[in-house]
Amino acid sequence: MKLQKDFQQYAQESDLENDLNNRLKLTFDEIKKNNPNLSLDEVLYAVYDKVKDNYNKPFDVLRNMILKANNIDELEYYTKNVRKDLKYYIEENIFPQYSKNDGGHNIAHILEVIRRSFALNDTFKLGLDDNMIYAIASCHDWGKYENHATHHLIAAKNFMNDEGMKNFFTDEQRKIIKEAIEDHRSSKEDEPRSVYGKLISSADRNTRIEIVFIRSFFVAHERMPETNIEEYLDYTIERLSKKYDEENPENMYFEDKTYKVFLQDMRDLLKKEKDFKNRYCMVNHITSRKNRVQDEPGEIANTKILKK
Ligand SMILES: [Fe+2]
Repeated sequence: MKLQKDFQQYAQESDLENDLNNRLKLTFDEIKKNNPNLSLDEVLYAVYDKVKDNYNKPFDVLRNMILKANNIDELEYYTKNVRKDLKYYIEENIFPQYSKNDGGHNIAHILEVIRRSFALNDTFKLGLDDNMIYAIASCHDWGKYENHATHHLIAAKNFMNDEGMKNFFTDEQRKIIKEAIEDHRSSKEDEPRSVYGKLISSADRNTRIEIVFIRSFFVAHERMPETNIEEYLDYTIERLSKKYDEENPENMYFEDKTYKVFLQDMRDLLKKEKDFKNRYCMVNHITSRKNRVQDEPGEIANTKILKK
């Protein structure tokens, strides 16, 4: 009897899920058909705006549901026109280099920067070369573990010295790729020399509060392990308030909706000290604020390295 009830409940739930998925798929198809010029990111926002009142879920969650319902793997979608042999070469030879980097600049970060580079290229209709975008994003933090301060130069040199990479690009393209990697650092005062440099600099910015928290706590382990968590949280609020209060806090040349929403959410959260601290601790699984930074492993210790 109980089994039958469970089964009925399961069937009902799965019907409901199918129904929700179908609705997301239909809305997605309809918006895409009526607005053929929108980028994937823009379509996702449009679907979200249309269905959000019925679903009552935050954008990030609904966004993933929409992608799943439509069977879209974003990375595959964006890199579909990248040369297969270049992709294979980079996956085999460059991606493994990132296991030497710190947790804030591992392969998960690179995959996110690849995704963002293509998304911005699409949204702003830059029409840049797909293979060059892929190479720049894939190489931009290569060898960062050697030296944080000069890592942009190290990565550019690694790209230029790599024999295999020479097969895929002309000398002119290699020069643009090298300069873009050199120019990607957000603290650099000069403007990047090309639109490729502006793209990678922009794609390298964080656009998720969770990721900022994970990466910042990782850096805390390296730089201030002895600090008490409560004091560390106060320090972080002060530091981030200063940073995100500025007009253009980072070298962001292509401010899309994703970035604007992130910036607004971050600024709002920074004004609510209690909420900020709770969310920070939740993301990094902090068990007691009386502990020191080094006593709490943080989320990055649990993060699985993404394998493509
Ligand atoms: Fe980066």
